Amino acid sequence: MKVTLSVIKADIGGWVGHCSMHPDLIAEGQESLAKAKKSGLLIDYHVTRCGDDLQFIMTHKYGVDNKRVHKMAWDTFLRCTAIAKKLKLHGAGQDLLTDAFSGNVKGQGPGVAEMVLEEREAEPVVIFMADKTASGAWNLPLYSIFCDPFNTIGLVISTNMHKGFKFEVLDVKESKKVMFNCPEDMYDMLVFIGAPSRYSVKTVYSRETGEIAASSSTQKLSLLAGRYVGKDDPVCIVRAQGIFPAVGEVLEPFARPHIVEGWMRGSHHGPLMPVAVHQSTPTRFDGPPRVIAAGFQLAHGKLVGPVDMFDDLAFNNARQQALDMADMLRRHGPFEPHRLPLDEMEYTTMPQIMKKLKSKFEKI
Ligand code: 13P
Ligand code: 13P
Ligand code: MG
Ligand code: MG
Repeated sequence: MKVTLSVIKADIGGWVGHCSMHPDLIAEGQESLAKAKKSGLLIDYHVTRCGDDLQFIMTHKYGVDNKRVHKMAWDTFLRCTAIAKKLKLHGAGQDLLTDAFSGNVKGQGPGVAEMVLEEREAEPVVIFMADKTASGAWNLPLYSIFCDPFNTIGLVISTNMHKGFKFEVLDVKESKKVMFNCPEDMYDMLVFIGAPSRYSVKTVYSRETGEIAASSSTQKLSLLAGRYVGKDDPVCIVRAQGIFPAVGEVLEPFARPHIVEGWMRGSHHGPLMPVAVHQSTPTRFDGPPRVIAAGFQLAHGKLVGPVDMFDDLAFNNARQQALDMADMLRRHGPFEPHRLPLDEMEYTTMPQIMKKLKSKFEKI
């Protein structure tokens, strides 16, 4: 059976500040998606939040970029925004960049990761969702999961993964894409995906069967809006087991927290801390950045789950490491590398301050 798995998310108002989501918004999301399921548009759904981002995980039969599914999500975000405005939540409607729906939420602010898959005998999927970070944050973990035998032993000892994986990488600034066949193209690929503010892994495919293995959201809010409006807070879908890495191999990169952009005012680097959903409440200096993981078994399109995958004491050391990394970076205050480099600050205060001080600069 062919199933489309769509994850669509948006920040439509924070409670309190940018740290969490008011229960009324989640309730509105649930009610709306329940109606869509009843009407036959959706097979199943799960509504959750990561920090101040509202997450719709949906299954249906209509393929990616489906206008009806996207419009239903968009209209739901609008209704949630109305509630957020009534409660005077912070940044109500933050990620909805346009007034009118144009047929697809891509380019309108919300983040989207989707895939069409042929459901296998057992179909475990993990949905990663992050807050206080940018698209590109998945580059390092996706590389670890699908290319690194020190992370994924299956690449070495499982015959159906030995051929490796194919990566689709986007240049988000130039709107171009390029394919890499790994392992042989790994070094070439790392030149690009090691610069995650510009290059994002969009899709990963099995080279054994050509089937889709992973899909991420790559929308860049600052590029869409031409100014800073909030961080992308991306999502990523990863299939597991069989011809794909085991669930444990999919989660393993997050046991070694890496540094991502997006903390405080979207202008700082910080460690990506793996947490349970109830811990995805970034309060310290509006962070540090969080990642949650919802695990499901698909059964005829039904989302059997979620299991809150990082709600496991095995990730306690990772959380402690992330907190230690956070302390170390915070010590730098307004200095790089805690603060983002200049070209990444383009969309914040830099242009205005430059303009103000222009006449003060003298030639030397
Ligand atoms: P099971 O035998 O429990 O399916 O586990 C296999 C496996 O690969 C776990 O990593
Ligand atoms: P969000 O992108 O999660 O809204 O965070 C914005 C911010 O500036 C936090 O300091
Ligand atoms: Mg916010
Ligand atoms: Mg957010």
